[in-house]
Amino acid sequence: MDKKVIYSAMQPSGVPSLGNYLGALKNWKNLQDEFNCIFAMANMHAITVRQDPSELKKNTRNLLALFLAIGIDPKEHIVYVQSDVRAHAEMSWILNCYTYMGELQRMTQFKDKSAKHEDNINAGLFTYPVLMAADILLYQADLVPVGEDQRQHLEITRDIAERFNNIYGDVFTIPEGYIPKVGARIMGLQNPERKMSKSESDNPNNVIYILDDLNNIANKIKRAVTDSDTEVRYGEDKPGISNLLNIYGAVTGKSIEEAEADFKGANYGEFKKCVADAVVEELRPIQERFKEISADKEYLNTVMAEGAERASKIADKTLAKARKKVGFAVR
Ligand code: TRP
Repeated sequence: MDKKVIYSAMQPSGVPSLGNYLGALKNWKNLQDEFNCIFAMANMHAITVRQDPSELKKNTRNLLALFLAIGIDPKEHIVYVQSDVRAHAEMSWILNCYTYMGELQRMTQFKDKSAKHEDNINAGLFTYPVLMAADILLYQADLVPVGEDQRQHLEITRDIAERFNNIYGDVFTIPEGYIPKVGARIMGLQNPERKMSKSESDNPNNVIYILDDLNNIANKIKRAVTDSDTEVRYGEDKPGISNLLNIYGAVTGKSIEEAEADFKGANYGEFKKCVADAVVEELRPIQERFKEISADKEYLNTVMAEGAERASKIADKTLAKARKKVGFAVR
């Protein structure tokens, strides 16, 4: 029982991309032996940009089915929907009062998102990192696997926790970032200079969604941009090929050197075909399980209810501590 607690969450805003899968979800699956895992569907974060309510609901259930399909075990670990646990909103309010405007104003994600959603720069978008801090701190997480884009949010979480602890004593565990042994930063297939992400998806061939039709996925990979060279080699001067090597390596578990060795002398067409096959064979069983699991509505309801209950138990304990410290009645 002395395993460390690792916490992560993903927003249920549409189907995750191959980048989300290889950069995060596939690693989550592998963390289960070593850690006590808590994984959330961050639907409270999702509403900081306008969502269609029925879509959000559907996307949340689909994301849960997907977590289960990739092999996250909801009995051994905790999987839950953020909004099912009231403590998040409550803790988030308390922490808001221990967070400075200046700190939030410095967040690059806030600046980016405000530029992108000029017509809806709401207060939730601004205090987004405080809700994220509440997520992490409620579960006394030791570790948080974070990509580059969330690193600043983990930093502010640590600052808020330290500030609170300095005033009131040891209330929160100070979380650390967890860099997975094999992490992959997957870039767009059409624009390999930028991260593969939904928001860049003006060109549908740029992004692979993990529930895309498998033929479609293979075709997207075959259409990926390369370069005028002919050599399958990793290098800064070869963003397209390097990205495909990263994808291949992340899927097969091979290092870049091993991946390069596999394609010594191969032409781009042969290389892409192998990458496509590897990705398709990785995703095929996931898609099959996803279909089964999402058809079983009762099962999903049960997992959600149990997850909410188990998460609430832990979160309420931390919340009670914090409430007491700031002078709220014990309930
Ligand atoms: N903000 C994260 C993202 O968009 C999701 C998230 C919410 C999260 N709460 C978290 C990630 C807590 C790690 C820990 O990717």
